[in-house]
Amino acid sequence: QNHLLGIEPLAPDEITAILDLAQDYVALNRGPEKHSRALAGLTQINMFFETSTRTQASFEIAGLRLGADVMSMSMEASSIKKGETLIDTALTLNAMHPDLLVVRHPHSGAVGLLAQKVDCAVLNAGDGRHEHPTQALLDALTIRRAKGRLHRLTVAICGDIAHSRVARSNILLLGKMESRIRLVGPPTLIPAGAADWGVEVCHDMHAGLEGADVVMMLRLQKERMDGGFIPSEREYFHRYGLDAAKLARAKDDAIVMHPGPMNRGVEIDGTIADDINRSVIQEQVEMGVAVRMAAMDLLARNLRAARAA
Ligand code: CP
Repeated sequence: QNHLLGIEPLAPDEITAILDLAQDYVALNRGPEKHSRALAGLTQINMFFETSTRTQASFEIAGLRLGADVMSMSMEASSIKKGETLIDTALTLNAMHPDLLVVRHPHSGAVGLLAQKVDCAVLNAGDGRHEHPTQALLDALTIRRAKGRLHRLTVAICGDIAHSRVARSNILLLGKMESRIRLVGPPTLIPAGAADWGVEVCHDMHAGLEGADVVMMLRLQKERMDGGFIPSEREYFHRYGLDAAKLARAKDDAIVMHPGPMNRGVEIDGTIADDINRSVIQEQVEMGVAVRMAAMDLLARNLRAARAA
């Protein structure tokens, strides 16, 4: 692959290759010397047109640990504010010969469009409701480390599926890796055609968590609700928030995941989020650095091979 724009074009063996390399980077990141030369001599530019804590920080740390020259653009202080378009901004940066562009944008498809205009490898750090591929890869690595496999697991993805690029990328990845996926949430937050995606759909949280190996909670994405139905947070937590009673329906060794940022007391009880026996939320953050190192390393190998050809 020349870019990482989504999970959709990836084959299962390509997903496994990224996870295997990321596993090596977990060891590097836990060691005393966190540096490699995999991206030495390459320039990485991070362009985030939407807010981010985890993704932006981990891409920056990943690039630095791999020896790249890393620049994180402040889009608030860029000429986008003077009306310059996304494509003109991308062409301007492309003229400076970057090797890797990491882009987050509020519009679905914007990162793919940008990738057609530049000469370097583009990594999608989240585009609208479309995809967030590195989130799904880090989630997969977290699950694989906890459960030893990805196939034949029951994964309950719960909450606001309709507005979530994290849900979409996870459904694609876990489907390719032969997990059983259950989407759990109110009818207003699960797309009407979801039952045709090869997943189970359940509107009752207690029933939806029955026998689950993995419980993945999602944030209510109010910023994408376009003035449509926004549930009351109290009522939502009562019916769909993860608490001890609902989690008791999952397997005894079920893990609890959340991509962050979390809204405690809305989609998840804070005690469960902090329970180190069940919650792998901090491990997800750790895996984010390793997965982004692996993704950039593999793209850089392809880029170097293409340039040498
Ligand atoms: N999970 C995730 O994308 O978090 P950020 O928005 O903080 O990057």
